[in-house]
Amino acid sequence: MKTTLKIIKYIILSVLSIVVILVGYIWISPIPSYENKAPQLTVSVDSAHVAEGARIASMLCVTCHLSEDGKLGGGRVVDANEFGEIYAPNITNHPKNGITHYTDGELAYLIRTGIRKDGRYAPPYMPKLPHLSDDDMNSIIAFLRSDHPLVQASENKQPDSKPNFLTKFLVRVAFHPFPYPEKPIAPPDQNNKIEFGKYIALAKFECFSCHSENFKSNDYLNPEKSIGFFGGGNPFKQTDGSVIYSANLTMDETGLGKWTEADFIKAVKSGIRPNGQATTRKPMIPYAGMTDEEASAVWAYLSSLPKISKDITKLK
Ligand code: HEC
Ligand code: HEC
Repeated sequence: MKTTLKIIKYIILSVLSIVVILVGYIWISPIPSYENKAPQLTVSVDSAHVAEGARIASMLCVTCHLSEDGKLGGGRVVDANEFGEIYAPNITNHPKNGITHYTDGELAYLIRTGIRKDGRYAPPYMPKLPHLSDDDMNSIIAFLRSDHPLVQASENKQPDSKPNFLTKFLVRVAFHPFPYPEKPIAPPDQNNKIEFGKYIALAKFECFSCHSENFKSNDYLNPEKSIGFFGGGNPFKQTDGSVIYSANLTMDETGLGKWTEADFIKAVKSGIRPNGQATTRKPMIPYAGMTDEEASAVWAYLSSLPKISKDITKLK
């Protein structure tokens, strides 16, 4: 009996020391780095691609990377407080503080996989676009390379992010870089409304990532497999401690069931709900640069999805 107790004691002690060592290791080690296998890529910096890139960036990059000088000089990402003290870097054409040292291929590689030029992994607070078409990717890079006012050299210098233990733990067990696509990605067929809407909602503007149940259970490589796909309820902790839940965008009556297409287009583009209330407390920004055709296609796509009954007002 005594020996059994002793053995149990030793087992418990060993398990405890392993846990302590693991926690200590994760605590002091940096975010992991990966080999940078960026492709050779040369984008065409023509006015059409620059304009489209600027339109995409105004809806996708500005929220985090805008600085006080009105350029993409970077800033603190307060919506990511849960992950630590997170700073979006300067991504303007400043020779020292910006990203002129990146090649076009390295930019595409980072935006698709999450691996930065120096190999460091950018955790999920820097969104990735693994399914974006090559042509849209060309537009984003052309814009970053252009003399558009948003990317003209900003003197701003951002500190490195200080990810907390949760982030360091998650990048060891759950969050990993995405594979770089092996084949070219063609643009969607704009004549197929549902397919086009699906591309906007899943690949280009990733509406699903905020509008499914939780970032932690999203499947970015197969978005439709995300838990609670478009059923909303993803919590966003605000700086004052309160929580905003993302809306249910399925056609159930707890979601958009009573909305018209016109209500939807207006809400997405201007941030005004049918009842006149703002939809757009952060983090939902009005997609002012979205065309009516794009918003209408997203509506058609959402209408094709299974309904989820989830009243997010009851989550509070
Ligand atoms: C939700 C906030 C957020 C959004 C939106 C966002 N980024 Fe970032 N971005 C970050 C953060 C944070 C980092 C730094 C990651 C880190 O600290 O590990 C980063 C890093 C980068 C880097 C790497 C810079 C370097 O010095 O290595 C580039 C380039 C970049 N982002 C471009 C973009 C582009 C282009 C878009 C729009 C398509 C975009 N980002 C949208 C938060 C964001
Ligand atoms: C960064 C996260 C995020 C992204 C990306 C996002 N949303 Fe939202 N959205 C939210 C949150 C959070 C709310 C709830 C806001 C509130 O309660 O004030 C919301 C609200 C809405 C509403 C209002 C619904 C209602 O019942 O009031 C609509 C419509 C909407 N989003 C559509 C979209 C579409 C379409 C996209 C993609 C083009 C999108 N959202 C992308 C976070 C996001």
